[in-house]
Amino acid sequence: MSETSAPAPEPEPAPAPAPAPAPEEEIPVYEAEDLQEQEEAPEEQESTPENFEPARERVMREVKTLDEKKPITHVIGETKVFAILNQKGGVGKSTTAINLSAALGANNKAVLLIDLDPQSNATSGIGVDKSQITHDTYDVLIGAADITEAIIPDVCEGMDLLPSTVDLAGAEVELVNEMARENRLKNATGSLRGKYDYIFIDCPPSLGLLTINALVAADKILIPIQCEFYALEGVTKLLDSMKRVKNVLNPSLDIFGVLLTMFDSRTTLSRQVADDVRAHFKDLVFETVIPRTVKISEAPSFGQPITEYDPSGKGAQAYLALAEEVINRG
Ligand SMILES: Nc1ncnc2c1ncn2[C@@H]1O[C@H](COP(=O)(O)OP(=O)(O)O)[C@@H](O)[C@H]1O
Ligand SMILES: [Mg+2]
Repeated sequence: MSETSAPAPEPEPAPAPAPAPAPEEEIPVYEAEDLQEQEEAPEEQESTPENFEPARERVMREVKTLDEKKPITHVIGETKVFAILNQKGGVGKSTTAINLSAALGANNKAVLLIDLDPQSNATSGIGVDKSQITHDTYDVLIGAADITEAIIPDVCEGMDLLPSTVDLAGAEVELVNEMARENRLKNATGSLRGKYDYIFIDCPPSLGLLTINALVAADKILIPIQCEFYALEGVTKLLDSMKRVKNVLNPSLDIFGVLLTMFDSRTTLSRQVADDVRAHFKDLVFETVIPRTVKISEAPSFGQPITEYDPSGKGAQAYLALAEEVINRG
């Protein structure tokens, strides 16, 4: 499996001025030449009508209730709750939420994915038809439904979903004057401790009240960082929010891991961002790096995690390797 089968790239121009090791909180700035691609060859073929496997249709998950859930046959220990968070949009939060949940589910773990984003990308990406949703995260937060009434079981192997709809967009405003507004998700998920191995919360791209709810409910946070320009922009702000919640509402909150996403081994920029992120977050960065692949970006339109859509591809392998790392980190 070689990504470098094309003729060897020209040697890189003599020692490109290595970016000075950024002082702690500084955001690295990349020069235009960092963008230079070293190879022209496309990483993989895009699925076109000609090469596309025929009869591939969007998967629609059956929307059942929790009492129809397949019995869990393994012993569940302590439930770990992770918020997948980065207030930048498009960094791979929802993609990681779906694919890491599914990869853990495929490893005989019991996983709940909570969609906390009004855009509902995790809900639609796993193949749940929004018209069939009776209760969603919004209903749970405002107290109109119990979380057990809203969870859709077995959306794929080992994985349940608390779906979201656009209703959730109103929650930030509606909850402002409510009591214990920051604790709504924590209170709702409290009853699920011991019922799942992992609960992941797919956060919206903001640091508003929904995200605060995630930070209060979570044991730890997982930060996806896209290997692109301005990768670390805003991370300081994110960590400030984390610290504030930690000081006041959730003393044990910490970073569980930092995940490099959409890594393109052909670009110097991707490698440089990866190096900078590793210099900054050190051992917190997962060894597994999620590559940028067409298959990963196609999978949600078929309502499938990458482990179902393209089980032998490098995207699935990466998320399975990440699942193993998550398990090993304890
Ligand atoms: N590893 C990847 N390779 C290719 N495309 C990706 C990858 N990860 C995410 N994407 C695509 O990038 C876009 C943003 O990802 P998404 O997970 O929705 O980000 P976020 O939830 O942080 O806003 C989506 O179109 C998604 O399909
Ligand atoms: Mg998202």
